[in-house]
Amino acid sequence: MDQKRRRRGGVLIFLIFLGVVSAYLFYTELRPTVIFGLRDDYARAIPYQKVPAGLNSLKAKECGRCHKAIYEEWKSSIHAHAYQDPFFQAYWKKDDNIWVCLNCHTPLENQQPTLIQEIPRGRVERAVQIPNMNYDPEYQNEGVTCAVCHVKDGVIHGPYDDSAAPHPVQFDPKFRTKQICYRCHNVVSGPFQFYNVGPCGTYAEYEGEFFMKEKGMICQSCHMPEVTRPVAQGGPIRSGRRHLWRGGHDPDMIKRAVAVQVMADPPQPQPGERVTFTLTLINAGAGHKIPTGDPDRHFTVEFLVRDAEKKVVRHQADTMGRWILWQPVIWEVYDNRLLPLASRDYEFTYDVPEDARNWIVQTRIRYHILTDDQHEMLREKYELTAKDPYVFTIYERDFPLDESLSVALQDQPLDPRVGCAKEMEPGSVG
Ligand code: HEC
Ligand code: HEC
Ligand code: HEC
Ligand code: HEC
Ligand code: HEC
Repeated sequence: MDQKRRRRGGVLIFLIFLGVVSAYLFYTELRPTVIFGLRDDYARAIPYQKVPAGLNSLKAKECGRCHKAIYEEWKSSIHAHAYQDPFFQAYWKKDDNIWVCLNCHTPLENQQPTLIQEIPRGRVERAVQIPNMNYDPEYQNEGVTCAVCHVKDGVIHGPYDDSAAPHPVQFDPKFRTKQICYRCHNVVSGPFQFYNVGPCGTYAEYEGEFFMKEKGMICQSCHMPEVTRPVAQGGPIRSGRRHLWRGGHDPDMIKRAVAVQVMADPPQPQPGERVTFTLTLINAGAGHKIPTGDPDRHFTVEFLVRDAEKKVVRHQADTMGRWILWQPVIWEVYDNRLLPLASRDYEFTYDVPEDARNWIVQTRIRYHILTDDQHEMLREKYELTAKDPYVFTIYERDFPLDESLSVALQDQPLDPRVGCAKEMEPGSVG
């Protein structure tokens, strides 16, 4: 009896031991430490770049001497802030400032403090690093700087085959394809990471029939609007593109992605009657899903009933985004984001009270860079500065809860963006 119990106890201890060892091995040897996998191109920094002949430095400011307009645009873009961006800095800190993030956020070898000699078994935390003699901390602050896309082996690559520049130039047809965005906007998943599309994987999402196949649009068509101007000060007027790259941090850009239509049944509700509002949200202006990229991004669609004193008496909120289980394996459980030109109806039902004078139903759509909880966590633990806004209201409209509702409903011109706006016409895309 006693012996049997002892034997059983032994088996139990052995099983616990086995469990602990497997969990340890799983986390240290199998499961990647970052939320994405490696691919050959972004596993490495862009090799050391020397200054092209005729120029004083590789820095953006130097390019800005002659390419002033482009420089100012770039400086206002998120690419220029890809390193200093407080959201990046906070998440990077959370990930123990691991080097691999730099290969997209400050991708040039000249911008990185260490050189990677070897990545044993693809485990980024084990990489063998040595100090980089060519590291320039000031250059690191430039994030995705001009030379990342334009400089290779001392030569400046660009979209033209006839430019007369004071620096060596080479025509590269890649500039007028979406290939130029591939390295960074197509992050892949790693072992034990079951994403439908990798995090920040906008490129892979751009399978849209309409924008790509019918309209011939590429990433640049929407994110680098076409412009006719001298490319360099004093140079000839040419057709080129603004270096703006607006995205989720710019409410105006997000507004360009969505079209909204609200209907009600019945359109003239009487007191005591039940009314159903339907808000139709259309991805009318993005070539990929909305939201896209960073898996934290999401939209909320809200209905708020406010009484005559503006007090909220009922609130309904729906979320559009991706739901991901992060532990013990990454598993994308659910994705209800909208494909290009797809639409979704959100319904809200309410019993109109007997006296609903001056009551309203407020409809609202907001875009979130991340959730309030994540924001709080990053602020408390990882020094997020919290100066930057992270929630944007991109649609808001009040509807009266009485007979005048039908008038308000008619006062919604169908959004011209449905079917794609003129300003997003592809222009020079070949
Ligand atoms: C001293 C002035 C000057 C400086 C500094 C300068 N450029 Fe230029 N660049 C020019 C001129 C002039 C042209 C030709 C414009 C034309 O033909 O319309 C040009 C052309 C270009 C082109 C188009 C090349 C092509 O053939 O497609 C690119 C891209 C470019 N420059 C990038 C850069 C970058 C990046 C830097 C900084 C590392 C830089 N330039 C610094 C004057 C300058
Ligand atoms: C070398 C890497 C790299 C390349 C190449 C690159 N990007 Fe980016 N891009 C980034 C990084 C990193 C960010 C995020 C910066 C941040 O928020 O900290 C970003 C952000 C953006 C955003 C804004 C997202 C937001 O949250 O507002 C847009 C839009 C964008 N890129 C478009 C493009 C397009 C279009 C191309 C191709 C012409 C391109 N990018 C090429 C690295 C790159
Ligand atoms: C994320 C990649 C990326 C970065 C960073 C970038 N460019 Fe460009 N650049 C492009 C693309 C793509 C084009 C081609 C646009 C087109 O189709 O005309 C281009 C075109 C140009 C041209 C040719 C004129 C034109 O408008 O097409 C010049 C000059 C130029 N870039 C200079 C710069 C300078 C200066 C910087 C930094 C201040 C910079 N670029 C940063 C991607 C980039
Ligand atoms: C038809 C126009 C259009 C095309 C084509 C397009 N985009 Fe966008 N993109 C948008 C609009 C509008 C938004 C703003 C909506 C949003 O952020 O969800 C956006 C948002 C983004 C964002 C911001 C996501 C975030 O985290 O805030 C990134 C990154 C991006 N696009 C990259 C790309 C890349 C890379 C391509 C090419 C593979 C591309 N886009 C093609 C219109 C377009
Ligand atoms: C393969 C390229 C790549 C690598 C590697 C990479 N990123 Fe990014 N990251 C991007 C791109 C592209 C975006 C912009 C996508 C978007 O906004 O949807 C981005 C956006 C972000 C954002 C959102 C920034 C904002 O303004 O909201 C954070 C945070 C971030 N990255 C952190 C990291 C961290 C931490 C690592 C390393 C563990 C990392 N990234 C590695 C390409 C990369």
